Amino acid sequence: MSAKIIDGKLAAANLRAELKANIAELKAQTGQVPGLAVILVGDDPASQSYVTAKEKACAEIGILSVDNRLPATTSQDQLLDLIHRLNDRPDVHGILAQLPLPRHLDESLICRTISPEKDVDCFHPVNVGKLMLGEAGFLPCTPHGIVKLLEINGVQTDGAHVVVVGRSNIVGKPIANMLLQKCPNGNATVTLCHTHTRNLAEFTRQADILIAAAGRPHTISADMVKAGAVVIDVGVNRVPTPELPRGYRLVGDVDFEAVKEKAALITPVPGGVGPMTIIMLLYNTVYSARRHILGA
Ligand code: GUN
Repeated sequence: MSAKIIDGKLAAANLRAELKANIAELKAQTGQVPGLAVILVGDDPASQSYVTAKEKACAEIGILSVDNRLPATTSQDQLLDLIHRLNDRPDVHGILAQLPLPRHLDESLICRTISPEKDVDCFHPVNVGKLMLGEAGFLPCTPHGIVKLLEINGVQTDGAHVVVVGRSNIVGKPIANMLLQKCPNGNATVTLCHTHTRNLAEFTRQADILIAAAGRPHTISADMVKAGAVVIDVGVNRVPTPELPRGYRLVGDVDFEAVKEKAALITPVPGGVGPMTIIMLLYNTVYSARRHILGA
């Protein structure tokens, strides 16, 4: 039987409506709205389209979007100076520097310079540490979006064997940590696989919930999936496709057509995890604004 397709667009639309109402209420109560500063350095096409999507999403729900599109030649000092100014702005509650940054910029230093109080990506070591300890605070957007999708679709993580493929700081490491926390949407047994894992399929076939975040098309084929598993595809890979007007198509890390015949639930690409990532960024911005404005 074919898997149920998890609709990330629908889940994101519902959350967007909730956030919009929340922002309207905050505005009526205080006269203030959440503000998100987005920093893009250089002209990487994928980063440009992500940043444009983030700015558009902010405008749609009433978040003030403070755009900072800087040339690739921007120096480290110029960027640090901008971040300090944004840290000090009371109308900015979230700051995001789109990664990857050009190579002459120290990504780790940039992420540490963004105030942990405005770190809506949850990349600052203080926030990463809190996440690992299970303390309240920002949660990183893509992993948080995955947890929400599992929750909305009634997938129990408690006692489940989750296998994560990919150990990135943005997805693999944080989602593994979040799902093993002793909490309602956690309590999973987590296996974290990566490029040096021997016999990857031996692990993936044990997964009740398989999270593919390797950043490589066709990482997960049907023979690597247990019948009835829940499959979450985090991959966003651009495959050159000259016959399409934009010259590429998006594919995930999972062989969707084959795996959907074996899984119980599966996310598509596009339209699965992607829309949730942006929504959780907006969620973090609203959360931060409420903390700054209301102390809540
Ligand atoms: N580049 C790819 N994903 C992300 C993300 O979630 N946040 C930022 N800042 N950059 C990214």
